[in-house]
Amino acid sequence: MTSAKAIVYSEHGQVSDVLHTHSYTLADPQSNEVLILTVVAPVNPADILQVIGTYPARPEKNTKLGTAKPSAVGGNEGLFKVLKVGSAVKHFKTGDWCIPRVPGLGTWRSHILCDSHDVIPLPSFLSLDQAATIGVNPLTAYQLLTQFVYLKKGDWVIQNAGNSAVGKLVTQIARVKGINSISVVRNRDNLTELVEELTALGATKVITDEQNYDESFQATISEWVGDSKVRLALNCVSGKSASALVKKLSKGGFVVTYGLMDQSDLNINISITDYVFKQITSTGYWLTANIAANPQLKIDTLDEICKYYEKGLVVSPPFKKVLYKLAEDDAKGSTFLETMLRVVGDKSGKQALLFE
Ligand SMILES: NC(=O)c1ccc[n+]([C@@H]2O[C@H](COP(=O)([O-])OP(=O)(O)OC[C@H]3O[C@@H](n4cnc5c(N)ncnc54)[C@H](OP(=O)(O)O)[C@@H]3O)[C@@H](O)[C@H]2O)c1
Repeated sequence: MTSAKAIVYSEHGQVSDVLHTHSYTLADPQSNEVLILTVVAPVNPADILQVIGTYPARPEKNTKLGTAKPSAVGGNEGLFKVLKVGSAVKHFKTGDWCIPRVPGLGTWRSHILCDSHDVIPLPSFLSLDQAATIGVNPLTAYQLLTQFVYLKKGDWVIQNAGNSAVGKLVTQIARVKGINSISVVRNRDNLTELVEELTALGATKVITDEQNYDESFQATISEWVGDSKVRLALNCVSGKSASALVKKLSKGGFVVTYGLMDQSDLNINISITDYVFKQITSTGYWLTANIAANPQLKIDTLDEICKYYEKGLVVSPPFKKVLYKLAEDDAKGSTFLETMLRVVGDKSGKQALLFE
């Protein structure tokens, strides 16, 4: 038997009100099962919305872990190490790293006993940072660039939130594919530093929100793009920022919305003339739905990202790791909950719980 702990919730609400620690024991894996140990549990904005209850995808609540009320374990992304395998498992051995196959596995816990097909093995050449965050943002960036419009070498893509984790991956993957990119970022004191960082990652041009809004700046963009086309606009912000991106698209261009960082205005303004005479298409992207509809797409996209990491063509955006020592946790599990609430409450970039 293995002692384990999970951060669970039985009701939806603010994380500090509804999350609590649950301790349980797990039997050894049978047949096709694996027992896995959590190495890193990243926290994504969607995880918090899921606990609050405003995210469209909700994990099933049950009493399988022995909770008094039907409960779900928080979190969707995680890196795990295989501790024990069942007698029929052929594709895993002790010590292998793996990640969830589909969203909703519940990753804010110390151990999982699951079917071996619920997790995907990762190649051993990945670094801890690459492996821990490979399952969401790199897949999103790759699919945003490949699923909506055929981009050929020399084409242009424009995106807002260019300094987000997804944005930095879009920039790098675009560079690998020979696609030019314009990243829109919010102005800041250290803008020059940020422009240098994004340019080093492969951004062809970096512009500010103000330049994005300024209609006269279009002449500069047209000069950069020349006879090529701006075929794709990636919107992570919404509102005014998204509407200004659309204006930069060439005829037949696509605007794809995947995030709504500016919650004050959830609309994109696309004029009838843009629809009719420029044949602009506006659509949305959701990784969760993509994976649910086509689980093999996740495997295929992971393979591509692993190749990029192996060849050193792409670097994984950094994230903050907060250490949680399971062995030093107290009997009630309060340290686990406190640490998780600290991670969830820290809005200064991507955070993850690092288990020891
Ligand atoms: N649809 C999907 O399947 C999918 C998949 C993955 C991620 N996402 C979404 O993509 C978004 C980015 O995720 P991430 O992990 O890359 O995030 P991240 O690294 O934390 O970056 C957040 C970005 O949002 C910008 N931002 C924050 N508040 C803003 C505001 N009010 N107006 C304009 N920009 C603002 C930040 O810019 P500053 O530096 O200027 O603050 C930063 O560029 C999230 O909304 C996430 O939920 C969606």
